[in-house]
Amino acid sequence: MAGRIPQNFIDDLVSRADIVEIINARVPLKKKGKEYTACCPFHNEKTPSFTVSDSKQFYHCFGCGAHGTALGFFMEYENLDFVDAIEALAAEYNLDVPRENTGFTNSPTKDDKQPLYDIIAKASELFQQQLKSSDKAVAYLKQRGLTGDIAKTYKLGYAPEGWNFLTGNLGKDKTTIDALVSTGLLVQKDDGKQYDRFRDRIIFPITDRRGRIIGFGGRVIDDAEPKYLNSPENAVFHKGLELYGLYETRKAVRKLERIIIVEGYMDVVALAQHGIEYAVASLGTATTKDQIQKTLRTVPEIIFCYDGDAAGLKAAWRALENTLSIIRDGQFVKFLFLPEKEDPDSMVRKEGKQDFEKRLDNATALSDFLFDTLKKKTDINTMDGRAQLAESAKPLLAQMNDSIFKDLLLEKLSELVGMSPQKLQQHIISPARDKYQAAASPARRSDRHVRHNATRTAIALLLQFPELAKTKPVPEEFSDSELEGFSLLAELHSHTTQDTGITSIALLERFRDNQYENSLLKLMEWEIPGIEEEQQRNILFVDSMNSLIKKHRHQRYEILNDKQTTQPLTTEEKQEYLSLLSD
Ligand code: GTP
Ligand code: MN
Repeated sequence: MAGRIPQNFIDDLVSRADIVEIINARVPLKKKGKEYTACCPFHNEKTPSFTVSDSKQFYHCFGCGAHGTALGFFMEYENLDFVDAIEALAAEYNLDVPRENTGFTNSPTKDDKQPLYDIIAKASELFQQQLKSSDKAVAYLKQRGLTGDIAKTYKLGYAPEGWNFLTGNLGKDKTTIDALVSTGLLVQKDDGKQYDRFRDRIIFPITDRRGRIIGFGGRVIDDAEPKYLNSPENAVFHKGLELYGLYETRKAVRKLERIIIVEGYMDVVALAQHGIEYAVASLGTATTKDQIQKTLRTVPEIIFCYDGDAAGLKAAWRALENTLSIIRDGQFVKFLFLPEKEDPDSMVRKEGKQDFEKRLDNATALSDFLFDTLKKKTDINTMDGRAQLAESAKPLLAQMNDSIFKDLLLEKLSELVGMSPQKLQQHIISPARDKYQAAASPARRSDRHVRHNATRTAIALLLQFPELAKTKPVPEEFSDSELEGFSLLAELHSHTTQDTGITSIALLERFRDNQYENSLLKLMEWEIPGIEEEQQRNILFVDSMNSLIKKHRHQRYEILNDKQTTQPLTTEEKQEYLSLLSD
């Protein structure tokens, strides 16, 4: 295996990469004031809301919220993982990527997860091998109409009976067992022993958008309960973010135009078996906003497919609610309700591709599903009923972004209830309107993302201007503080002192895949008001830090004060307490 890429190489590379150049080569940019803009490559739009900041080396889309660094853009746009993106970025500048021989120190945080990806991949290989040698499992899949080819595409496997299959094959050393437990493949018992989670089940591996396996679903072969077991959430597997089959779909269909979101693993696989290779499934839960957004960044059209029974209608309604705050002009969301007792698997097996696609073509538009459902709940022949209808539509429309689609829905609602769209609009205050106005006037952008407080200000300043660390050190004790953001501040500071001269963007990249990544991205974008001059920055940073130090001391005082009422303080604590008293 190749050694790790030295951190200082990564720092230098991300610092020298020019985001405007990188993006412009792929998505032609137009200069607009201090920034560059284009139509966003991550969602479908007609007017540009994708902006690239030269000074911050950062991109942001006001439409879909995508944002990040040059390296992040590479990963998203070219669909690369971290290491591949580093390689590709280095190639842009004709640089060879050096490798370390030792496997430790300062490696990117992503590597913490590598052992999990590795063990999951190995387990999947084993399950796939087992499938080939299990007559019972093969017979089951055959009976469900699946061929060996499709089993291979979806990497279907079989977890055999018995409690120790995985450790029997992968080893019983502590590292292996720990990794297997972290991924949920082994269940930890109270007595310290472990056993296989998946036993005598068909295995459906779940991949992330880069094709790495991150978890599994397992189905019983007989009628045992529970029918399905899923990997628990872990460091690499987040159910609400991933969609079963998305990677395979993207791989199978060169030019994707629409995606069907179904409920079951078997539905995805059966549809693919019949040539409908663009189905994905949420993972045993309602489809989340993140999942819908992820899909709409891939294709402009989603068709949610559910049973026509009460449960199906309810699930569809949840999906509709989650769609409204996300959908933009140029995107289409439809609903297909199947006859009772059918699911996409049984339906496509009965009818075949053509008829099933005919159903898809005739799926119910979101607007029809919305108003049909609301109408069913009231009698619109009465005034009370119409008022009730308007009332129940209000919160739904209020969460929508301003768009032609929203206007059309308003118009339709106005026809139904007999009130002018203008009047209706007055009752519906959209949060998105504020957002858009803020986006249009950069002066107000600062207020949009970030609530001001000393902690956020200090973190944002240190991140955007790492050299500030010299003007006021962050006390080491902050790293043990429970106050929000304090340990992050200490961590940022320790990076700047360990690598003096680290650039803002390199500092940010150190937090990739870290729990703080998203907060830091936001703080990176934040246009902190009143800091054009270096001196202003220094003063603001010192002021913020002083107020945080005060807060920290106050909290320490409270903690020690509490403690001394129940137990004696140590000598050190006594000294600290006395010094705090004199504040
Ligand atoms: P088949 O019965 O094999 O056709 O599976 P299906 O995919 O049609 O399953 P079904 O429609 O019953 O359920 C849809 C999805 O819900 C499944 O793919 C699972 O993700 C999830 N699910 C169903 N049953 C269970 C269960 O017992 N436990 C858990 N955790 N998830 C389940
Ligand atoms: Mn089914």
